Amino acid sequence: MAAAGDPLVGRDGPVTSAITPVRWEHDRLVLLDQRLLPGQELERVYGRWEDVADAIRTLAVRGAPAIGVTAAFGVVLAARASTATTLDGLLADVEVAIKGLAGTRPTAVNLFWALERMRRTLEAGSERPLDETRARLLKEAQAILDEDVAANRAMGDHGAALVPARARILTHCNAGALATAGYGTALGVVRSAHAQGKVALLWVDETRPVMQGSRLTAWECVRDGIPHRLIADVAAASVMARGEVDLVVTGADRIAANGDTANKIGTYALAVLARHHGVPFYVAAPYSTIDPTLPSGAHIPIEEREAGEVRRVGAQATAPDGSPVYNPAFDVTPATLISAIITERGVVRPPYRF
Ligand code: MRU
Repeated sequence: MAAAGDPLVGRDGPVTSAITPVRWEHDRLVLLDQRLLPGQELERVYGRWEDVADAIRTLAVRGAPAIGVTAAFGVVLAARASTATTLDGLLADVEVAIKGLAGTRPTAVNLFWALERMRRTLEAGSERPLDETRARLLKEAQAILDEDVAANRAMGDHGAALVPARARILTHCNAGALATAGYGTALGVVRSAHAQGKVALLWVDETRPVMQGSRLTAWECVRDGIPHRLIADVAAASVMARGEVDLVVTGADRIAANGDTANKIGTYALAVLARHHGVPFYVAAPYSTIDPTLPSGAHIPIEEREAGEVRRVGAQATAPDGSPVYNPAFDVTPATLISAIITERGVVRPPYRF
């Protein structure tokens, strides 16, 4: 059996194929360790669901769709590890894994959506032979992955139609290939617009405190030749005031029934700025990010992460250890500040109804 998160491949320099942060290979789950980017491109192999849960919790894999896909494969690993000889036994073993995986991060609904799909597949399974049920679980996880890439491509097409010629776009966090099964949501829109020759510049917020913008989005832009410029989050107001942003596009972790949207901390501030400066503010997200059970954003659980993320940049202390910290990982942008939501089924305009 593979050890916990063993390094599989260490590569120096940019990879030439499409970015695949999550894949199934030789009966194991392979994750590109995003904690090490942009310095090191290292893939790790996972054989135990407990280690997959740890990878999600510690941000080796992150981004709403990517953690849903990853958790689905975690369920596959749990079913394969179970020695149960009855469907009820398998259900009981896998339920432990589903609960463990669901307990990793609370905000992105894609995680719970994917786990629910896997639970339904398992419940529809048959007693004899149990391996057929295990095979069906793998098929379902792979379908979740494939559908996500297809959804991102469709979002790219729909979103690119909203992008004017010579556009200067601003984005926050990483909603790229790394945050999904491939291609990306918000960055997928930028990719498609870039392929059509419409992108003059992508402003990339560095995205304190975990730096998904500078570490991950900028890495994807360099790799794919997308013209970009990195800014400190606090510079966004200034570039908008100078008239240098034509639109903002971000991803989402959970969209409530009324369109209120949770995304990386700092997104709400950008939406307020965009409204003040008359700049369209778009959200790009698949339907798996919509949670129709929540009437508004006030009900979205917001993850709080450890103080160390704010007190340090990497290993460098930027605050005294004794300073108390508030570190919400996400905020909620009210639907009233969102010009449109780009989905794989098309562009949805207010008033939002899901
Ligand atoms: O904490 P993270 O890095 O998982 O947060 C990611 C984001 O906020 C993304 O914008 C969101 O998940 C959309 S990814 C397509």
